[in-house]
Amino acid sequence: VKNVGILAMAIYFPPSCVQQEALEVYDGISKGKYTIGLGQDCMAFCTEVEDIISMSLTAVNSLLEKYQIDPKQIGRLEVGSETILDKSKSIKTFLMQIFEEHGNTDIEGVDSTNACYGGTAALFNCVNWVESNSWDGRYGLVVCTDSAVYAEGPARPTGGAAAIAMLVGPDAPIAFESKLRASHMAHAYDFYKPNLASEYPVVDGKLSQTCYLMAVDSCYKHFCSKCALLIILLSFDVLLLCKPLFIGLVDFSKKAHCLYEKFEGKQFSINDTDYVVFHSPYNKLVQKSFARLMYNDFLRNASSINEDAKGKLAPFSSLSIDESYQSRDLEKVSQQIAKPLYDEKVQPTTLIPKQIGNTYTASLYSAFVSLIDSKHTSLAGNRVIMFSYGSGFTATMFSLRLNEGQHPFSLSNIAAVINVADKLESRHEFPPEKFVETLKLMEQRYGANDFVTSKDTSLLAPGTYYLTEVDSLYRRFYAKK
Ligand code: ACO
Repeated sequence: VKNVGILAMAIYFPPSCVQQEALEVYDGISKGKYTIGLGQDCMAFCTEVEDIISMSLTAVNSLLEKYQIDPKQIGRLEVGSETILDKSKSIKTFLMQIFEEHGNTDIEGVDSTNACYGGTAALFNCVNWVESNSWDGRYGLVVCTDSAVYAEGPARPTGGAAAIAMLVGPDAPIAFESKLRASHMAHAYDFYKPNLASEYPVVDGKLSQTCYLMAVDSCYKHFCSKCALLIILLSFDVLLLCKPLFIGLVDFSKKAHCLYEKFEGKQFSINDTDYVVFHSPYNKLVQKSFARLMYNDFLRNASSINEDAKGKLAPFSSLSIDESYQSRDLEKVSQQIAKPLYDEKVQPTTLIPKQIGNTYTASLYSAFVSLIDSKHTSLAGNRVIMFSYGSGFTATMFSLRLNEGQHPFSLSNIAAVINVADKLESRHEFPPEKFVETLKLMEQRYGANDFVTSKDTSLLAPGTYYLTEVDSLYRRFYAKK
């Protein structure tokens, strides 16, 4: 099988949202802190009739219907989420209701959880399955679903909610460059959910920012070495001969990197990718992360850094890595240098994350959907680098190659199905008071039993699933509008 990757995508986010500008006033903080300081415009949230299960049911149903996929054709279903509604029963089993109806219960896969990384783990599982001997010729289906809510305080404006469904198979318009993956995984208490009675995380905001940037640095470094290695092997046309070397890829990569420099006279840099898509807790961190890639390119003396930029970054060349995370001057200068390339390679990926907020496992893929929405007519042949981050912490940088594909699995059809502009326009803005009231009600409902919801579906589009009841045995019931 060739070009295994994403064939089709569907996105769902709640129609209920709150403007960040209005939240600034309500929270009594200085004007511009959420909109410029964090770079966020608006935030989606679930009301009492929606949750991660209803959103994922809607996203899966929408994908199957819009691309006319027979539910019997799904052979693997994987869910990524960090919103816990049940400590044992997977979200995947709720989604099985759709497939059971069509007589298909032969579907592998369960849920993956580690903060915002679970969606990427689920996606890799599906891609690896299609590329493996266990593959039975059917499609894989990945669902990322999360409702991000924070306790009152500085983290609250960085919430959000969405579900994304992705169909995985061969000959995809969004194909994995599977050898080009680099991870950084370590132990940190930056963001975690130890209180099982609450949906809210415990967050060390500053530490989570530094962990994120450390992961960006480390993944990019390894990613560049792996790219260099691959290019050498291809250049010398000894791919087959050197196949065993892939097993010791990391050890070999440093040596190979030097060889590549001699051979080509240049290193991999951000000039070698058309777009960079980041996990997006809030847009300012995305801006800082891209600037960090430029700083890495500067330290590696790569071609993306011109003489002017070299001069401006020179004063920071001797900073230790720890000092570099603390330096406000470096942050400012590198962001200024990165701005033109940011506008070209990152800005087209930012619309949905700025409009709906951090959607945890769905965040990276909502940024990618924004890219398809804004650039689908010119993406064929492009390489896209993706950076996935989950607190705790786990991160992977990986590469996608895009081609137009064939209907219904084409970039233009994906853009038509996701229909971002209409979805954003048809939302309902809640005043901050109503948003806060909703979160209070959700705090009471979290982990509760024996209640019925208002069943108020007035804001929901036809075809949307919603929660009707949680009975005395904590069983959750959903209906479709
Ligand atoms: N106008 C413009 N900018 C302003 C204003 C203003 N009036 N006031 C403040 N700012 C800027 C600050 O200068 C700062 O920008 P900078 O980082 O470029 O200096 C920014 O607004 C944020 O303000 P801070 O005071 O630094 O941060 P705050 O205490 O508000 O917390 C944080 C921000 C840490 C992101 C918090 O919202 C949080 O904890 N969020 C959840 C954790 C998170 O998302 N971590 C990211 C990775 S992990 C994950 O995905 C969950």
